Amino acid sequence: MPNKPTAAIILAAGKSTRMVTNLPKVLHEVCGRPMLSYVLDACRAADIQRLIVVVGYQREQVVEAFSKEAGLTFVAQTDQKGTGHAAMMCREALADFEGNVVVIAGDMPLVRAETLQLLIGTHRKQNSAVTLATAVLEDATGYGRIVRDEYGNLQGIVEESDCTPEQKQIKEINPSYYCFDKALFFDALNQIEPNNVKGEYYITDALHILVQRGHRAIAITAVKAEEAMGVNSRAQLAEVGRIMQNRIQAQLMQNGVTIVDPANTWIDIRAQIGQDTVIYPFSYIHGRVKIGSRCVIGPFAYLRDGTAMEDDVVVAVFTELKNSKLGTGTRVRHLSYIGDAHIGERVNVGAGTIFANFDGRQIHEAVVGSDTYIGNGSILVAPLEVPQGLQINHGSVVRESNLGEVTKQ
Ligand code: UD1
Ligand code: MG
Repeated sequence: MPNKPTAAIILAAGKSTRMVTNLPKVLHEVCGRPMLSYVLDACRAADIQRLIVVVGYQREQVVEAFSKEAGLTFVAQTDQKGTGHAAMMCREALADFEGNVVVIAGDMPLVRAETLQLLIGTHRKQNSAVTLATAVLEDATGYGRIVRDEYGNLQGIVEESDCTPEQKQIKEINPSYYCFDKALFFDALNQIEPNNVKGEYYITDALHILVQRGHRAIAITAVKAEEAMGVNSRAQLAEVGRIMQNRIQAQLMQNGVTIVDPANTWIDIRAQIGQDTVIYPFSYIHGRVKIGSRCVIGPFAYLRDGTAMEDDVVVAVFTELKNSKLGTGTRVRHLSYIGDAHIGERVNVGAGTIFANFDGRQIHEAVVGSDTYIGNGSILVAPLEVPQGLQINHGSVVRESNLGEVTKQ
């Protein structure tokens, strides 16, 4: 029998009071991307075919931010009456869907596709009505606790605010990674009531109902402590960002990139870096940046979105690059700003070179041919095209109109 398809409900409607923000929480960035992107990517990598995102607080902004992504359905939850209520909002969007539904929170960017795969795989193998992936934490404060009977069978989840003192001692928690049989799930959601301290509809009560009705409910302890971490405050945002940064750097190092001082280097998840490139301390790489092999980056380099360099390029001390291309062997050793430039191969960009790419109204592009020598302290005023092989005198203000006066062959 072929495997049943899987859809995902991603809960992202909460207001997030503790973030003290006017921006929807899931749009806050972790290593350069909104945290919701990571959850969506993990779902896609786990081969989840349909993605339903429940949005509420400032939902237009979330929809707008993800409008270019294919295969997403947004469902509005106008009043935030709890996680169970949020899931109920998806009934219509999934009316024609048969299979399993993964429910996960949108503020957990550290979720890994492998964990979702294990959750879905176990659910299928066990032919379960609901499968839950849990974590064991030294400090379980704030999480729903997993209650099992003396044989280890899952009994339910008790929210911290509803815990007895004994239940508070439980270290196995609900990070909120669920996989439900869709039909049974929506059926159970019909029955839940807001009978709890917070007066909310809890998704966890749907699980209780399935257990009470004698359906198979399984909890696997499959979530690493860090993956259980949600972002509820700015401090947690920074903490999650640090963990993500460690993951990004670990992957790059595994691919043969040297990062001299990982703690003092920041690299966007979208950056691509070739083998034997060395990143010196205090470098910040933000956005879609592509770096070839054997390049030298930093110390103190700031590489921004749209920067692409071929192999053997040097971009060193106090340099900022934005939306620019650098050919093989080009060197930018000190104190330069390069914006919207297309620079050829083996170009020497002298200390203190500035590309003046903005005239106050518009951005302009500059092209610099291969084997050009740009003297120290030069300003290249775009739009500009410098043919290859020229030598620009030190301290020049280079314009299209005076190229002949400031250069030697
Ligand atoms: C929930 C779980 C708890 C678990 C914890 C893990 C319930 C009842 N409890 O608690 O067992 O340990 O997550 O972090 O589910 N949301 C909506 N609409 C709402 C309410 C919430 O979309 O009406 C979204 C939030 O934006 C958030 C997620 O659901 O992304 C979780 O909601 P939150 O209020 O943070 O639940 P917790 O109290 O943390
Ligand atoms: Mg929470």
